[in-house]
Amino acid sequence: MNERLSRPLIIVAAFAASLAIGLALTLWLLGGPRAVTAASAIGGPFQLVDQAGQVVTDKNLQGKPTIIFFGFTHCPDVCPTALFEMSEILRAMGDDAKRVNAYFVSVDPERDTPAAMKDYLSSFDANLKGLTGSPEAVAEIVSAYRVYAKKVPLKDGDYTMDHTSLIYLMDRDGKFVAPFNIKRRPEEAASDLKRYL
Ligand code: NI
Repeated sequence: MNERLSRPLIIVAAFAASLAIGLALTLWLLGGPRAVTAASAIGGPFQLVDQAGQVVTDKNLQGKPTIIFFGFTHCPDVCPTALFEMSEILRAMGDDAKRVNAYFVSVDPERDTPAAMKDYLSSFDANLKGLTGSPEAVAEIVSAYRVYAKKVPLKDGDYTMDHTSLIYLMDRDGKFVAPFNIKRRPEEAASDLKRYL
C-alpha cells in the first residue's frame, strides 16, 4: 500500500478507536450510577402510624434489621398465611425478636385504620407492627418499595386488593438486602434473620 493511501487509513482507524473509547467511557459513566441506583432502589422515606397510633418512619429502620410485608386485613389467604409464618419466625427468635422490626404495611388505608390493624394483629405475634396512614402516605411507601398494589372491584360492590406478597429484608442501615424467604422452617428463617442483628 502506498503512503498516500495508508495515512488517511491510520487517521480513520485512530478516529474510530477514540470513538470506541469515548463510547465505552460514556456507557461506564451512565451505567455506574445507574447500577448503584438499582441496588438501592427499594426503600426510601415514609411516615406512617402503627396499630397503637405511634408514628413510624424510615428512621425506625436504623439500628435493627427489618422485615417488611405489604398487604391488607381483608386479604382472604396470602396475608394471614404470611403473617402467621412471620409470627412463627419471631417466636423462634425468642428474646431476639425485640431486636428486629417486623412490619405489616397496609396497601388498603381506606379500610385499614390503626384500630382495624390493632384488632387484626391481635391474632399474630405481638412484635408485629401494623403500619398504615393516609392514602398519600401509603402511596409514598408503596412506590418507594416498588410494591404492586391494585384495587380490584368485586361483584357485590366490595373490593379486594391485588398486591406484591414478597417480604423485604432491610439491614441495620435500612438498606434493602433481599427478599426474605419465610417458606421454610421457622428456626431456619430465624437463624438467617439473626445474622443481620
Ligand atoms: Ni394479601
